[in-house]
Amino acid sequence: MCQARLKPKALTSSSGLATFLLILMLWWRCVVSDNELADYEAAYLKKLRKAISPVPSNWLTTTNMCDWSHVICTDGVVGRTVESINLMSQSLNGELPPGLNNSLRNLKTLDLTNNFLTGPLPSFAGLSNLQELKLGFNKFTSVPDGCFQGLTSLQQFHFHNNTNLSPWTFPATLSASSKLNILDLDSSNLMGFLPDIFDSLSDLEILDLSSNNLTGILPNSFSKLLNLKWLYLSSNQLRFSGKIGFLPSMIHLEYLWLQGNSFQGPIPDLSNCTKLKELYLDNNQFTGVVPHALVNLPLLEEVSLDKNWLQGPMPAFNKNVKASLEGNGFCLNHPGPCDNTVTTLLQVADAFRYPLLLARTWRGNNPCKSWSFITCDIQGKIRTLNLTNRNLNGTISPAFANLTDLRELYLGGSNLTDSIPESLTTLSQLKILDVSNNNLSGSVPRFSPNTIVNTANNSFLLWSSPSPKASPPPPSTNKASPTASNTTRHLWIKLGAGAAGSVVGIIVIFGVIVFNNKRRFSLAQKIISRRKRKQVDHYVEDLIKSYSSLSLKRYTYKEVKKMTKSFSEKLGEGGYGIVYKASLADGQLVAVKILKESKGTVEEFIDEVFIISRTSHVNIVSLLGFCYEKNKRALIYEFMHNDSLHKFSYRKESANNLCNLEWSTLYQISIGIARGLEYLHRGCNTRILHLDIKPQNILLDEYFRPKIADFGLAKICKKDQSIVSILGTRGTPGYIAPEVFSRTYGGVSQKSDVYSYGMLILEIIGGRENYRENEGSHTSEIFPDWIYKDLEQGNVPTRCLPIREEENDMVMKMTLVSLWCIQPNPLDRPSISKIIDMLEGPLESIPYPPKPVLFSPERLISQYSDISYGMEHETSSTTVEDLEKG
Ligand SMILES: *[C@@H]1O[C@H](CO)[C@@H](O)[C@H](O)[C@H]1NC(C)=O
Ligand SMILES: *[C@@H]1O[C@H](CO)[C@@H](O)[C@H](O)[C@H]1NC(C)=O
Ligand SMILES: *[C@@H]1O[C@H](CO)[C@@H](O)[C@H](O)[C@H]1NC(C)=O
Ligand SMILES: *[C@@H]1O[C@H](CO)[C@@H](O)[C@H](O)[C@H]1NC(C)=O
Ligand SMILES: *[C@@H]1O[C@H](CO)[C@@H](O)[C@H](O)[C@H]1NC(C)=O
Ligand SMILES: *[C@@H]1O[C@H](CO)[C@@H](O)[C@H](O)[C@H]1NC(C)=O
Ligand SMILES: *[C@@H]1O[C@H](CO)[C@@H](O)[C@H](O)[C@H]1NC(C)=O
Ligand SMILES: *[C@@H]1O[C@H](CO)[C@@H](O)[C@H](O)[C@H]1NC(C)=O
Ligand SMILES: *[C@@H]1O[C@H](CO)[C@@H](O)[C@H](O)[C@H]1NC(C)=O
Repeated sequence: MCQARLKPKALTSSSGLATFLLILMLWWRCVVSDNELADYEAAYLKKLRKAISPVPSNWLTTTNMCDWSHVICTDGVVGRTVESINLMSQSLNGELPPGLNNSLRNLKTLDLTNNFLTGPLPSFAGLSNLQELKLGFNKFTSVPDGCFQGLTSLQQFHFHNNTNLSPWTFPATLSASSKLNILDLDSSNLMGFLPDIFDSLSDLEILDLSSNNLTGILPNSFSKLLNLKWLYLSSNQLRFSGKIGFLPSMIHLEYLWLQGNSFQGPIPDLSNCTKLKELYLDNNQFTGVVPHALVNLPLLEEVSLDKNWLQGPMPAFNKNVKASLEGNGFCLNHPGPCDNTVTTLLQVADAFRYPLLLARTWRGNNPCKSWSFITCDIQGKIRTLNLTNRNLNGTISPAFANLTDLRELYLGGSNLTDSIPESLTTLSQLKILDVSNNNLSGSVPRFSPNTIVNTANNSFLLWSSPSPKASPPPPSTNKASPTASNTTRHLWIKLGAGAAGSVVGIIVIFGVIVFNNKRRFSLAQKIISRRKRKQVDHYVEDLIKSYSSLSLKRYTYKEVKKMTKSFSEKLGEGGYGIVYKASLADGQLVAVKILKESKGTVEEFIDEVFIISRTSHVNIVSLLGFCYEKNKRALIYEFMHNDSLHKFSYRKESANNLCNLEWSTLYQISIGIARGLEYLHRGCNTRILHLDIKPQNILLDEYFRPKIADFGLAKICKKDQSIVSILGTRGTPGYIAPEVFSRTYGGVSQKSDVYSYGMLILEIIGGRENYRENEGSHTSEIFPDWIYKDLEQGNVPTRCLPIREEENDMVMKMTLVSLWCIQPNPLDRPSISKIIDMLEGPLESIPYPPKPVLFSPERLISQYSDISYGMEHETSSTTVEDLEKG
C-alpha cells in the first residue's frame, strides 16, 4: 500500500542517503505516524469521525486508525484494510457520510446497532465482502435505491426498529445475497408487496418482517424457504396466495408468528413441523376446523388462535401449552364434538376450502340459527342450501349425503371443479340440484327421476349416455354448452312455465277479486242469497230471536241515542260506521258502533253478533248489546281505555306510540293476542277464523290487555274441517296471508290468521307498519326483509325501543316466532298453540326461521298498476279502527 504511494519521480532523482531517508520517512509516515490504510479508507474514517458524536475516545488521540477502538483492520492485498466497525450502543448521533461503499471496500462487518444515527443510509452497494450489516435500533430516515445491491457475501442483515424511515419497499436487490441467513427488518416502515425473490434466499433461517405495512400475497418463492426456523410476519396486511401449501414443508420452523395480518383460509396441517414451539395465528381470518395435528406437536409451548373465524370443535391442547382460543366460531365453548349436522356442513365447507363467506355465519352448534344460505324447517331439519353465484372454489363434498332432509341444493355460478359425488343420489328428498355454471368434470351420477338436475355450463361434465329417464340432462340456459340437450330444455321450460303459471294465476285471481266488485261471501250472505231481499229483515229478526237466550241485550235506537248523548262524543270512524263513546244507565262506559246504512252491513252485522256473542275470553272483546231497527243498526261493546294497537303504531303523528310501551308489555300483548286466537281456533264444535287480524282490530284495555275485535270478516268452520273455501278476498293488505289470494299457497285455514298475527308482531317489533294506507308510494324494501337482515347480522331488530339485556330473549323470541308465522307455505307456519309454547318457552327451543320469501300484494300491485287494490281495500276493510279516538 505504502509503496504504492511512492512516487517514481522521487526514486529516480534522489541519492542513496536521500533515498533511504525518504523511504524511512515514508515508512514512518505510513506505518507509525499516520496509518496503514489506503487514503480513501482513511478519508472515510475521518469523515465518519467528523460526522458522529460523541466520538469514541481514542479516535482523536490515535493517529493509526487501525488502533482506533471499535475498528478492526486486516491485511489487505496491499497493506491493511478495515474489516470491521463495531459501534454498537455508543449513543451516537449524526449521519453516516456518503461514499462508504467506495471507501471501505473490504468491510466484512458493520455493527451500528442501537444508536441515534439519522439521515439517509450510505450506499453499501458492491460491498461483496460484507457479511454482517447491523443497523437496528437507529433513527435512519431513508434508504437510497440500490444501496444493498451486490452484497453477495451478506449473511446477516439487521435493520429493525428504524421507525423514522420514510416508507420504503422490500429491497429486491437482496436477491444477490444468496448466503443470507438472518434478515431482520422488523419495524422499519416497509410497505407494499414482497418481491418474488425468496428462491434466492433459501439459506434464510430467521426472517423477521413484523410490524411493517407490507401488503399483498406472500410470493410463491416463499415456498423455497425450507430452512426457516423463525418466521415472523406479524402485524402487516399480508395474505396467502390461493394455497398455503408451503408452510407444512417448513419443517424446521420453531417460531411462527403470523398474527395481525389478513391471512385467510384454513390453518394448514403442520404435523411435520415437529420443532414448532410458538405458533401465533391470532387476529387473522383463518377459517375452518383446526387440524388435529396441531394439538399433537411435541414441543409446542405457546399457541394463539384468537380472533379468527375458526369453526368446528375447539382444539384440546395439552395443559402445559399456553393456548388462547378466544373470538372464534367453535361449535362449543369447550373441547368436544359438534352436532352431527354441524360436522357435515363443515365437511361441505371444507371441500369449498372453508371460504370466509361461510365462516362468518357458520359458527356455533346450530345450523338453523343464523347460518347463512341455509333454510331449515320448523323441526330444525335442513331443507334448502342456496349458494347460487357465491363464487365458491373447490369441490362438492360427498358429505352432502348426510343432509338427509335436503330438498333443494343450489351450487350454480361458482368455480367448482371435480365431479358430482355419487353419494348425492342417496338424498331421497332432493327435488332440485343446481350445479350449473361451474367447472365440473366427470360423469353425472344417476339421480332419482324426482330430482331435477341442472348441469348447464360445465364444459367437462358428461352425461353417462342413455339414461335420460334416470337423470334429466342439463337444461338449456347455455346455448354453447355441448351437453345441453332437448330433453332437459323441455324439463326446465316446464318448470319455468309452472312458475310463470302461478304468477299468472295470482294475477288472474287478483283481477277477479278486484274487478268483482260484489261483496265477499260471508256466513250471512250464504243464507241471504237463498232469500229474497225483502225477506231479509224478517229473517234477521228471526235470527235475533233465536239468539235471545244469549246474554245480549237488545237496545232500541232511542236508547242508543240517549246513551251516546245524541252521538256527541265520536271515538272514530271507519268504512262501516262511526263509533261513539257512551255510558249505560248504570254508568258503565261502552263503545257504540253505528253501522252505515248499506246492504252489506246486514251480513256484517249478523256475522259479528253471531260470532262474538258466542265467545267469551279475556282476549276477545265482549259484545254487550246491539240495536236492530230496520235500517238502524248498532253494536255495543265494552269500552277500551287504550283504544287499539293501531293507535300505538309508529306513525309519526302519533304521540302515544309503541316506543312508550315497555317490551314486557308488548310481549304480554303478543301472548294475549295469541291466546285470543287460540281460543277462536280451538272452539269445541266450530272453529272461528278471524281473517282480519291487524292493529286496528286489537283493542287494549286499561291494563293493556289485548282484545281481538271485529269479526266482520270471520269465518266459521266445522271442527273437522281443516281448510275452508272462501270466495272473494278478505283481510287487509300487509296482513293478509298469501293463500287467501292464491290457491297455489294452499287453502285458507287457521294458518291464515297465524300469518296475519306474524305480520302484526313484526310490526310491533320493527316499528314500521308493513302496509300503510293512504301512502301513495310503497317503499321498495319490504319490512320483514330488513328485520331478517338485522337478524342475520346478529342484531336484535328493533327501531325505537331500547332493549335491556334481560329483555333480549323476549324480543328475540317475538322476532323468531313472527318470522315463522309469515312463511309463505301455511304448513311451515306453527299453530297458534305452538306459538304460545314458543313465546313462553326458552329462546333456545325456537329454531331459526328461514327467510320468508314474501308474498306481497303491494309488489304485485305496483307491477300491475291498472289493478286497483286500494278500492277493494276500502270496501273490505272493517273497522274497529272506528274505535279509535282519531
Ligand atoms: C456505491 O454506491 C453507489 C450508489 O449506489 C453506486 O453508484 C456505486 O457504483 C457503488 N460503488 C461500488 C464500488 O459499487
Ligand atoms: C422494536 O420493534 C418491536 C416491534 O415493533 C417492538 O416490539 C419493540 O418494542 C421495539 N424496540 C424498541 C426498543 O423500540
Ligand atoms: C400503511 O400504508 C397505508 C397506505 O399505503 C397508509 O395509509 C397507512 O397509514 C400505513 N400504515 C402504517 C402503520 O404505516
Ligand atoms: C409430512 O411428511 C411426509 C414425509 O415427507 C409426507 O409424506 C407428508 O405428506 C407430510 N405431511 C404433510 C401434512 O405435509
Ligand atoms: C338463491 O340465491 C340467489 C342469490 O341470493 C337468489 O337470487 C335466488 O333467488 C335464490 N334461489 C332460491 C330458490 O331461493
Ligand atoms: C375463490 O377463489 C378466488 C380466487 O382465488 C377468490 O377471489 C374468491 O374469493 C374465492 N371464493 C370464495 C367464496 O372464497
Ligand atoms: C355421514 O356421517 C357418518 C357419521 O357421521 C360418516 O361416517 C359418513 O362418512 C358420512 N358420510 C359422508 C358421505 O360423509
Ligand atoms: C377457478 O378455479 C381454477 C382452479 O382452481 C382457478 O385456476 C381459477 O383462477 C378460478 N377462477 C376464478 C374466477 O376463481
Ligand atoms: C376448468 O377446469 C379445467 C380442468 O378441469 C381447467 O383447465 C380450466 O382452467 C378451468 N376453467 C376455469 C374457468 O377455471
